[in-house]
Amino acid sequence: MKVLVTGVTGQLGHDCVNEFRCRGVEVQGVSSKDFSLTDGAAVEKYIKEYAPDVVLHGAAYTAVDKAEDEQETCMAVNAEGTRHIAKACAEIGAKMIYISTDYVFPGDGEEPYEPADSKGPQNVYGKSKLLGEQAVQELLQKYFIVRISWVFGINGKNFIRTMLTLAKTHKELTVVGDQIGSPTYTRDLAVLLADMAATEKYGVYHATNEGFCSWAEFAAEVFRQAGREVTVTPVDSSAYPTKAVRPKNSRMSKAALVEAGFKPLPRWQDAVGRYLIELQSEAANLA
Ligand SMILES: NC(=O)c1ccc[n+]([C@@H]2O[C@H](COP(=O)([O-])OP(=O)(O)OC[C@H]3O[C@@H](n4cnc5c(N)ncnc54)[C@H](OP(=O)(O)O)[C@@H]3O)[C@@H](O)[C@H]2O)c1
Repeated sequence: MKVLVTGVTGQLGHDCVNEFRCRGVEVQGVSSKDFSLTDGAAVEKYIKEYAPDVVLHGAAYTAVDKAEDEQETCMAVNAEGTRHIAKACAEIGAKMIYISTDYVFPGDGEEPYEPADSKGPQNVYGKSKLLGEQAVQELLQKYFIVRISWVFGINGKNFIRTMLTLAKTHKELTVVGDQIGSPTYTRDLAVLLADMAATEKYGVYHATNEGFCSWAEFAAEVFRQAGREVTVTPVDSSAYPTKAVRPKNSRMSKAALVEAGFKPLPRWQDAVGRYLIELQSEAANLA
């Protein structure tokens, strides 16, 4: 198996390339330095020349708030860019794994969303990722769409890093308590995606770490495990207005994943613990 991973300079792409490498799979990671997703001809040329069996498309325009002001760029990368990748995959008969998001859902109610539930993105980024999903479904049969949320990994900025930085200067923090979802550790997800790539169990899946929490609960668990004495007070989203609307309900059901025979990701608290260890080794290597 020969694999191409887009977004190698990001959180998920980085861990996916490492995971394939560890398994002895021939893998190439690419970023915008290799080609821009917005350049259809460049995407096609690269993919045809490398001729992978699987394209794991993890690259995206991920600046959710900025996207409200940069709608055109966000759409060009996430919707059209994904269409270019899907088209190239169709032409060479490659499987495609497209990474999508909880933001394709409206975020109402309290029940976990099933993969086929009605969509209704509330922000530009969510709309662009949904258009990406639709392009994949329109152009390909051999595809996996994998929706994830609240991502953290070693190769980038994320909520855990922000909380640990704030803990250096704060003994008390207010954190949003009325948005409920699940964190996703890119190292855990990479294991699942590498398993998936080797199968033909095509379809739409949700794949986050197990369990649900609010951002406030997420922060409190990070401080507890990191041994930082910070008091977290949950507040409503209205206390932290953002340009892009965030869904209150980001719960996603992983039933389809289990039914297809894939191993669900470990619980999110367990993932936090292992990520903190990874951060410690990063710090030791930098020292
Ligand atoms: N972060 C989250 O909380 C979250 C939640 C749900 C879903 N997701 C999805 O998960 C995937 C991975 O997210 P992540 O957090 O790992 O992303 P990330 O760290 O923000 O990295 C984004 C990657 O996309 C590449 N990229 C951006 N624009 C590009 C362009 N025009 N052409 C080529 N490459 C381009 C970047 O390359 P350069 O470095 O060269 O710019 C980078 O490698 C994305 O599909 C995202 O939509 C993320």
